[in-house]
Amino acid sequence: MDPIDRKTFLASASAATLSAAAPRAANADTRDAVFLSTWKWGVEANAKAAATFDGGGSLIDAIEKGINVVENDPNVTTVGYGGLPNAEGEVELDAGIMDGTTHRAGSVCNLHKIKNPISVARLVMERTRHTTMAGEGALQFAIAMGFTPMQLLTSRALEAWLKWKNTPDHETFWIGPEHHDTIGMVAATGGRVAAGCSTSGLAWKIPGRVADSPLVGCGYFADDAAGAASATGDGDVMTNYVTSKHIVQKMSEGMHPQEACRDLMRYMAKSARDLRTNMYCVIAIDTRGQVGALSMNAAQPLHYALWRNGQGALHTAEHYL
Ligand code: GLY
Repeated sequence: MDPIDRKTFLASASAATLSAAAPRAANADTRDAVFLSTWKWGVEANAKAAATFDGGGSLIDAIEKGINVVENDPNVTTVGYGGLPNAEGEVELDAGIMDGTTHRAGSVCNLHKIKNPISVARLVMERTRHTTMAGEGALQFAIAMGFTPMQLLTSRALEAWLKWKNTPDHETFWIGPEHHDTIGMVAATGGRVAAGCSTSGLAWKIPGRVADSPLVGCGYFADDAAGAASATGDGDVMTNYVTSKHIVQKMSEGMHPQEACRDLMRYMAKSARDLRTNMYCVIAIDTRGQVGALSMNAAQPLHYALWRNGQGALHTAEHYL
């Protein structure tokens, strides 16, 4: 059973979760809702998020449904179904979501066989007193919530894994570079913010690896006192800089989101290794809907999708280095 298409489950879940999520602000209007997402697939994700919001959903509904679009796309090999697997050939997913109004967050890590980890993360936030669930426990929780396990490894991902596995002296992550791009989404309307992200993480990662995406304050953070942020790139390094919390903290001190992103990169540049070869990217939004996006990588700029005033567009982020 496809979690997205399971009308019975969603009908009962949404009745409960909509009441648990922060309701829409009375003055919230689609034209006031701003959605900001990482990478080119953020364009479709934002459009779905905006349509969800326009249809009466909350910001959390919008973020979940927007990110689901990318998780469901087998052509995105770094998120959800079709994501490249770990070193043992198993797709291992991480996701997190946060409501800036309630300051509640939910996340899952090392989740196998469930293609919509952001939806499971949301249920951790709204149906439990926990914040993060991992591995087998997260899978059992998802099953209890009505999700049906499925094979997430597509033939394309299997072929890529076999090629890697059969390459003599293939790279491993005991020490090595990275291959991944996370979908991160932040949103603002009527003084409220929310954030979420979802990833299959590093291709060929050592099983059990957890990086920034499912960790509150690292892969995502949202606080109505200031704004929201999300990160994509080398999560093993970025975790150590608590990137999203850093950016939101700087916005709370009065920085514009773009300057807050620069402040993070300045902080990282003082000590992070390999800044010119690995990839570090962040997006941010404040409660007024002002946005920031920045990448620190000489080879690959961050593309980000922005939805504002009912229209979406893809942009290239400023490079810090
Ligand atoms: N930033 C995603 C990851 O490193 O897994």
